[in-house]
Amino acid sequence: MDLITPLELSSLEPVGQGAQKLVFRHPDDPRVLVKVVNPRFIERRDKRDRFYQKRRRIGHHRAFAREMIEHLVSRAWHPGQCAPCPHIQNILGVVDTDMGAALLVEAVLDENGELAPTLRDLVESGRYGGREQRALETFLDWALTSNVLINDLSADNLARHPDGHFVMIDGLGDRAGIPIRAVSPWLNRLYKRKKIRQLREEIESLRQAE
Ligand SMILES: Nc1ncnc2c1ncn2[C@@H]1O[C@H](COP(=O)(O)OP(=O)(O)O)[C@@H](O)[C@H]1O
Ligand SMILES: [Mg+2]
Repeated sequence: MDLITPLELSSLEPVGQGAQKLVFRHPDDPRVLVKVVNPRFIERRDKRDRFYQKRRRIGHHRAFAREMIEHLVSRAWHPGQCAPCPHIQNILGVVDTDMGAALLVEAVLDENGELAPTLRDLVESGRYGGREQRALETFLDWALTSNVLINDLSADNLARHPDGHFVMIDGLGDRAGIPIRAVSPWLNRLYKRKKIRQLREEIESLRQAE
C-alpha cells in the first residue's frame, strides 16, 4: 500500500454519511474507512459564519482532533500494550486526500463485510431486541465509568459489532471552548448522564415511529 501519495476519493461513492462527514472505503483495503469533512458542510458553515472562516486555525478538522485525543487517552493508561478499547472506533492515522485531510479508521463490519448497522438502523428495522439492549447497557456502563469525553451520543454514532458489542464511531471529545470536563471527572460524569438520558429518549421516539 502506498502511504505517501494522497488518496483520490472524489471519484468514489461514499459508503456512509452523516451531518458533517463523508465516509469512503479505502481503495486498497476494504477493512479501512477514510473520513473527510463534507465539502457541502464546509461551504454552508463558511457562508453562515464569516468570522469563523477568517479566524479558524484547525477549522473544520476540529472534530478529527477531538476524536484523536480520546483515542490517545484510551491508550495512555496501557503503555506498551496493544489493548485497544472495544467500545471506541480504532483510529489508524491521518492522510491527505483530494478532498482534504482525512481520518483513517478501522471499519466496523457485519458478517458479510458490509458496514455494520448503527443503533438507529437496528431500532428502525425492528432488530433492537433483548440482546441488543443488554449490549447497549454494557456500553453505557463503560461510557459512564471510563474517563472518555463524549459530545454526541446519538443512535447514528454507535455501530453494532458482529460480536454483539457497541462501538462508538463518532461523537467523542469535548466541544466546549473551555474543556472543563477533561479536568473534572464529576462534571464529565454529570454531562454523560445527561447524554445517556437523551439517547434513551431518542431510542424511545425511534421505537414509537417504527
Ligand atoms: N468505523 C466505522 N465503522 C462502520 N461504519 C462507520 C464507521 N464510521 C462511520 N461509519 C458510518 O458512516 C456514518 C457517518 O460517519 P460519522 O463519522 O458518524 O460522520 P458524521 O460526523 O457526518 O456524523 C455513520 O453513521 C456510520 O453509518
Ligand atoms: Mg455521526
